[in-house]
Amino acid sequence: MLNQKTIDIIKSTVPVLEEHGEKITTRFYQLMFGNHPELLNIFNHANQKQGRQQKALAGTVYAAAMYIDNLEAILPVVNQIAHKHRSLGIKPEHYPIVGKHLLLAIKDVLGDAATDEIIDAWAQAYGVIADAFIGVEAEMYDEAARQNGGWDGFRSFVVAQKVVESDVITSFYLKPEDNRGIADFIPGQYISIKLEIKGEKFTHIRQYSLSDAPGKEYYRISVKREAGTPNPDGMVSNYLHNDVNEGDILKISAPAGDFILDLKKDTPVVLLSGGVGLTPMMSMLKTVAEFQPERSVTFIHAAQNGNVHALREEVEELAALQQVNSYFFYDSPTDEDRLNNNFDVEGYVTREWLKENVSLKDTDFYFCGPLPFMKAINNSLKELGVNEERIHFEFFGPKASLV
Ligand code: HEM
Repeated sequence: MLNQKTIDIIKSTVPVLEEHGEKITTRFYQLMFGNHPELLNIFNHANQKQGRQQKALAGTVYAAAMYIDNLEAILPVVNQIAHKHRSLGIKPEHYPIVGKHLLLAIKDVLGDAATDEIIDAWAQAYGVIADAFIGVEAEMYDEAARQNGGWDGFRSFVVAQKVVESDVITSFYLKPEDNRGIADFIPGQYISIKLEIKGEKFTHIRQYSLSDAPGKEYYRISVKREAGTPNPDGMVSNYLHNDVNEGDILKISAPAGDFILDLKKDTPVVLLSGGVGLTPMMSMLKTVAEFQPERSVTFIHAAQNGNVHALREEVEELAALQQVNSYFFYDSPTDEDRLNNNFDVEGYVTREWLKENVSLKDTDFYFCGPLPFMKAINNSLKELGVNEERIHFEFFGPKASLV
């Protein structure tokens, strides 16, 4: 337990850290990777380059510090990050490394303003926050390993099938090399893949949402090829598209994530996706169709045009079911799309369209896609009066703000 004086120091220095937040975390990463280059095997280099991870970590540290005497209040945030940490293989022994370098960075950036008293208070606060994460993560590790077909760390899977779904998206069907069972998952969850890429000094880990229903003997991911290999964001997806083939082995950690379809409910559900954001939605759609045949589900997918539209046939097949409605939105349809009636609506998903075509009563909305798409959908739903409890979304990469 922290004493009141320490709590007061923490709370009064949060604004100072906020002011220098990104500077501190940028310095923190410099120092930490300098002393522990092996951690570059775990961290996403693309997120580092874009500063996204810096923002995510800084934001969480302030939030945690503001709630240092009531960490329960930020448990949902801790939970979501802990899922990611568990999926990546972050262990208790990593926490003191982060703590030490965070304090060094605070000292470095604040200089004399960071008195011994302040540093000591932050050391104590970090200890409390770290313990909260370690505790939640220990339970998650335990559960991942204990459940039927579950495992600890990274397990070898064979690429049983590789299927090109569009000009930019390819699916990989992954079966365990040991031929034993695989852990169940809840639609919306993701796996981490750890890759050793030839010529690369460090391993690369990426998360991909599972795109099929649970209960199969494989996991399926559907990966978008990101632009350009010099861009670190594209290195892994290009490697998967170009160099990973049927029969190859991939290292995978057990399914994780708190963006999940509530299968206890039987009220209507609307799934909205933009581009490759369709992967968790596919899993949700297929799961409802397979396991909740009475539940109404509307699948709304926005793509540029038919060339980049993946998994169309799977959706069309399910749309034949009484319970399923589907709508495809193209913002730049090709002549061929027009000729073949490949889409339902030209343009974007608007508030007006939602109001006219979707029943809002008791409906849960799930969405995933590029940031502008997410912001537009979120605003539309709020303007239409949908309760926040029925709005669920997932970001690509570290959490950002929709506001
Ligand atoms: C991801 C916070 C400790 C490694 C994240 C994210 C946050 C966060 C907010 C982004 C989650 C998302 O993707 O939505 C924290 C806090 C910590 C902590 C507050 C301490 C109390 C650690 C430790 C390690 C670690 C000890 C390992 C040395 C990572 C990695 C990611 C991540 C590798 C994935 C993102 C990337 O690779 O860019 N953490 N973290 N974290 N964290 Fe932590």
